[in-house]
Amino acid sequence: MKKIFYLLLSTLVISACTNANPEDKEKEKFIDNLMSKMTLEEKAGQMNQYNGFWDATGPMPEGDYQKKRYEELKNGQVGSMLNVIGVDQIRALQKIAVEETRLGIPLIFGHDVIHGYKTIFPIPLAESCSWDLELMQKSARVAATEASADGLHWTFAPMVDISRDARWGRVMEGAGEDPFLGSLVAKARVSGFQGENLSDTNTIIGCAKHFAGYGFSEAGRDYNTADFNEYTLHNSIMPPFKAAVDAGVRTFMNSFNTIDEIPATGHTNIQRDVLKGDWDFDGFIVSDWGSIEQMIPHGFARDGEHAAELAVNAGSDMDMESSLYVSKLVDLVKNGKVKIETINDAVRRILRVKYELGLFDDPYKYCNNERSKKELASEENMKVALEAGMKSIVLLKNDKSLLPLEKNGNKIALIGPLATDKNSPLGNWRSQAVYNSASSVLEGMKNNSENKISFAKGLDLYYGQTNFHNRVKVNYDDRSGFEKAKLIASKSDVVVMVLGEEGHQSGEGRSRTNIGLPGLQLELLKEIHKVNKNIVLVVMSGRPLDLTWEDKHIPSILQAWQLGSKSGDAIANVLFGDYNPSGKLTMSFPRNVGQVPVYYNFKNTGRPSTSIEQVTNSGYADVENSPLYSFGYGLSYTSFSYSNLSIDNDNMNKTSSIKASIELSNTGSRKGKEVVQLYIRDVVGSIARPMKELKGFKLIELNPGESTTVEFEIDNSLLEFYTYNKKWESEPGNFQLFIGGNSNVSEYKEFNLTD
Ligand code: GLC
Repeated sequence: MKKIFYLLLSTLVISACTNANPEDKEKEKFIDNLMSKMTLEEKAGQMNQYNGFWDATGPMPEGDYQKKRYEELKNGQVGSMLNVIGVDQIRALQKIAVEETRLGIPLIFGHDVIHGYKTIFPIPLAESCSWDLELMQKSARVAATEASADGLHWTFAPMVDISRDARWGRVMEGAGEDPFLGSLVAKARVSGFQGENLSDTNTIIGCAKHFAGYGFSEAGRDYNTADFNEYTLHNSIMPPFKAAVDAGVRTFMNSFNTIDEIPATGHTNIQRDVLKGDWDFDGFIVSDWGSIEQMIPHGFARDGEHAAELAVNAGSDMDMESSLYVSKLVDLVKNGKVKIETINDAVRRILRVKYELGLFDDPYKYCNNERSKKELASEENMKVALEAGMKSIVLLKNDKSLLPLEKNGNKIALIGPLATDKNSPLGNWRSQAVYNSASSVLEGMKNNSENKISFAKGLDLYYGQTNFHNRVKVNYDDRSGFEKAKLIASKSDVVVMVLGEEGHQSGEGRSRTNIGLPGLQLELLKEIHKVNKNIVLVVMSGRPLDLTWEDKHIPSILQAWQLGSKSGDAIANVLFGDYNPSGKLTMSFPRNVGQVPVYYNFKNTGRPSTSIEQVTNSGYADVENSPLYSFGYGLSYTSFSYSNLSIDNDNMNKTSSIKASIELSNTGSRKGKEVVQLYIRDVVGSIARPMKELKGFKLIELNPGESTTVEFEIDNSLLEFYTYNKKWESEPGNFQLFIGGNSNVSEYKEFNLTD
């Protein structure tokens, strides 16, 4: 019976290929031919990925593993490597694979190019606050050009995990809390990395990660259990992954967490039924670092062999750093626990991507030392980094219009440990950035103005050098710098304080239960506030911080994230008004960590709370439900007004559409850019629906006094969701439509959807 099934399946596959275009047919024929020559050991080898022999980004195996790995490399039992850096190293290892193995199948080399390679861009969460999709595509394009110039074929990006929890250190890698924006950012970044043609030498393969639900790790604790229902999975978590597939992403990486108590690495439904089935994804899935073996401590696999069996049968095609596929798959096939067809499908997917990169034509095509020297950290690329930095900054508060600062005539005190820090702005995933290579705020301010600037660090935020693997040693007791800082503050017209997180206090493995300013920074801020109230607070962080005291007492606050190589210049350009801040938050800032998770697209509940006085409603006794700063919020040095919200019809059906418009005016004295946001509420559904959902946005730049009409078209596709019927569809009924400058907008128009 089984033979008939596989005979039928193979004819279906061949017939599908016969409908394919000539190029695809050529590709599949090449792969068929190559696979017909491969031994089972060599096939298992293609599914095996090792870290380069340095700069690990995860726990490395004990003992002298390198000798064994070289042997496996020479025996054709390695298909890919990660974290091998530089043209010479990549060429040397590729040479072994191509010239010393029996079939000479080239390796594919991957690396975490998350927000830049040598030129470092703002961390992805920061860059998403620009809402500028073209910019995000451009920065990914630059990163791909640099990484490929240094010999790499593949980046483990974009990370598209939706997250609502500022305790989770990896929020810095994503695009915040909203699936609609997250989907558009995913598409922009995949397009940037992969370009128009994967065989071009300045394009690299993208990798949508972490599939799926990692951003919902319980209590914000990294690698923790994630607990969410099927509707949250499909309505909130999956859309950016689907967008990545639609954008043509060629690889996925699965996640460390469980989904419905099953580790994602062993989750057949999302990997085979949804991704490779419903979504027709024909690239390959790489496990996350050791996640196959980690199914043993998860309590889902008995031992390594069982873990390998579960993972490969569930659709994990490549094993990053468990060494289980290379050591167990041959026996698993021989003893009938894994079908050869399963192996063949995984290997075909991997060879397909290598073919698309052009590696079979020329395995050394990315190895060009001249290109590497010319492309990396070029002046042109740094210009893009500066633009991205400025557009990622969010102005949270500017009472008394303390900002922008005058370019001269001011006595400015610059205070704070991060004001001269040239390392933290590079963030946690800084790839090949040179240590201490970011421009500092002090450098930026000195380059940008003639003011008298006096500097005092105030305190050491941390001790010693930091890196991917170590804990930052935070200063909790040395206040010896406070007096000097207070002295210069007392003699200045305005104080610029640069506080926040060290670059390795967010990112992987950096969950925090306290999301306030680390160490003694708030204490220092309060001391300075006693001697000078004219404070501009610049916050550098990889996550939303608890800024409740700051919001209450500090007149101007800039959220400056970690902005990469041109951080100090970008911040200075905004401080002195050369760039009018236009960023809008893509992740809510909680009033305190007790509010987490807090997000704008919440459900109403049966007892919605609008005040802390309402005892038996869904609220707290000590803080209101709303976040300190909401999704979509951000100020400008000018001001905007919204008026005349209107819709051209209050009825639509599944084939028609509605046009909505609003009048936007620049009511201030400066040219400025506004992110005009469209939200829709589906008032009644077959499942409880969010109070608002972002369904569109436009970046509008206006001169002072200028007005314009901003229009959106709403069709059925914007009203669809994963319903109680487990289908993507819209449901007839009443809807509310909002247009404004952030998710707190309250004025709406109603319309009906009929069948
Ligand atoms: C890490 C991360 C993943 C990264 C991989 C390789 O553990 O979870 O995002 O791509 O290992 O560095």
